[in-house]
Amino acid sequence: MEKIVSLCKRRGFIFQSSEIYGGINGFWDYGPLGAELKRNVKELWWRNMTQQREDVVGLEASIIMHPRIWEASGHTSTFSDPMVDCLGCKKRFRADQIEPKSGIVYSYSGAIDEVLAPQLLALICGHPAQNLTQKLLEDKGAILATVHEWLKHDDPNLRKIAHSLLDELKKSNQAQSIESYSVLLPEGKPRESARKMAKQFYQQRGIANSTLQGEDAKQTENDLNHCNECGSLLTEPRQFNLMFKTYVGPVEDPDSVAYLRPETAQAIFAQFKSVLEVSRQKMPFGICQIGKAFRNEINPRNFTFRSREFEQMELEFFIRPDEVVEAISGRIAKASEIGNQKSEIGNSDWGWEAWHKYWVEQRVSWYENIGLPRNSLVEYWQKPEELAHYARATVDILYKFPFSKRDEKGELMGEELEGIAARSDFDLSQHQHFSGKPMGVFDDELKAAWAKLDEGRKKALWQRYHDARLNYFTKTGVPAEEAAKQARDDADALAKGNYIPHVIEPSAGVDRLILALICRAYSEDQAPDEKGKLETRVVMRFHPRIAPIKVAVFPLLKNRPELVQKARQVRELLRPHLTVFYDEAGAIGRRYRRQDEAGTPFGVTIDFETLGEKGPELKDTVTLRDRDSMKQERVKIADLLPLLLEKVR
Ligand code: GAP
Repeated sequence: MEKIVSLCKRRGFIFQSSEIYGGINGFWDYGPLGAELKRNVKELWWRNMTQQREDVVGLEASIIMHPRIWEASGHTSTFSDPMVDCLGCKKRFRADQIEPKSGIVYSYSGAIDEVLAPQLLALICGHPAQNLTQKLLEDKGAILATVHEWLKHDDPNLRKIAHSLLDELKKSNQAQSIESYSVLLPEGKPRESARKMAKQFYQQRGIANSTLQGEDAKQTENDLNHCNECGSLLTEPRQFNLMFKTYVGPVEDPDSVAYLRPETAQAIFAQFKSVLEVSRQKMPFGICQIGKAFRNEINPRNFTFRSREFEQMELEFFIRPDEVVEAISGRIAKASEIGNQKSEIGNSDWGWEAWHKYWVEQRVSWYENIGLPRNSLVEYWQKPEELAHYARATVDILYKFPFSKRDEKGELMGEELEGIAARSDFDLSQHQHFSGKPMGVFDDELKAAWAKLDEGRKKALWQRYHDARLNYFTKTGVPAEEAAKQARDDADALAKGNYIPHVIEPSAGVDRLILALICRAYSEDQAPDEKGKLETRVVMRFHPRIAPIKVAVFPLLKNRPELVQKARQVRELLRPHLTVFYDEAGAIGRRYRRQDEAGTPFGVTIDFETLGEKGPELKDTVTLRDRDSMKQERVKIADLLPLLLEKVR
């Protein structure tokens, strides 16, 4: 990863945001090569998802939306991570990312200031209420209760004593701390290190010259209460909402609070009805979107992998509920019945399982198509206990990043690039509930099919749909009587051709994909330098489809105007169709190396043969160099464009 991060910076793929001011954690900028790479990837996704399909249309929604959207989606109440703070180094972690540790836990029940405490004791021991003051440092709670009683006492003398004791008690806060603290150290590390950390901890709480109290040492395994980095005690987990908050308009009051969207998906649900009306689509169909999303991640990490600002490419593919599929087709195809052919598009008997499988397969094929082979990916089927309550199945597509954890066999386990979730009708139902606007569709095929069903089938489908709706209403807290009525109404509406569509959601992160493509492309091999000596060559083996620059054009020598002129002509010939980089500076070998590092798949060199100086048969031919094999072939200038277009398509 270190080499990759350094290349990204050196060659202008990715820079840290605001670097001249020391950077800002979790934010990244894409330099000239990174920007091209990202555009290519997004364009390919867009083309694949909508332009090349009949059944998906696009959307580009605003980043800030009505805050009720996030209430409906559940983000306001539940989009949070448990957070813990280290009491030593002050770092903040996601509680679920604390690594289990073993070692010795040194714990302390508190600390006394070795200078202040005896002074204070001496002071209050001279006080008339001696029997109380001696206990002062041991039992503050009991003393306080008595003091408060005396403050209200009829005897003015006792009230006076109580007041002066209260003053002393206040001072005693700087003389002692009864807060417990602990440190986990690996076995073999000296106890003194723990004591040093504990003293620092109590010092931060105002005990300047601390004597530690109640030291204890215990062996522990798989401990999750201490810091991954310094071993100090962590706070109890607190929930932290990940949405970035802002205010709309000039007044910063609770009514003007809005959020930067934490996902692009919700805009698709909110505009579902408008898009359906204007696009003349029929069920099943999809709406896709590419755009920025923001999450105030507690621990941005692994370069761009977990960022606070990132881009998503999301599709919401709306499908008929299984009861509707069965009413229309008389059956529901099993997922195992559908093949893996890339071109296969759904049949009317596909239920949610078939569509889900179809989209998993589509997405994996797309990754293969842009240069991530199947063996670099993992299809992870979430276990039932990992699923969101509304999800029927979720497959995460993982990429084996160099920083991924390894399993017991030493294999990289992979990190999530994309999640493909079957989300039932949860989202549209929620928006219907929160906005009061109907989110259902009318399906004339269903209406016609329903009329032809026998009574037994009608009853069975009515009941299944009713039960599913009742389950949704109950789980989202609708009171029982109302839930029962709504479920009945919805099942009655089904019989007339109306229902709320279900959805399959392939949701990918652009930045994670770019990082995966960069990791995959990075390689080193041996290549001869100018003098024929072998040296290490860094080469970014991007698939030509996504490479930031498709072709580099070089005149062999900069100081030969005929070569330069011809090279510029070739550049102009290619430029309207391909991203071209023109370079005339330095030795040709060095120029090749620079392009290898940028991942440019083809290099075109204009040399003396091109000018016809080595024989008329070579006139107007160029050398075409392949980045990966470093092989060179002679190609006629007239053939160059179609040949290159074919290779990068
Ligand atoms: N609408 C569903 C949704 O947003 P998600 O799994 O939270 O699902 C989808 O996010 C994808 O967005 C992830 O698979 C990942 O690629 C990307 N993503 C999520 N959080 C990210 C972050 N903090 N930094 C970079 N990419 C992120």
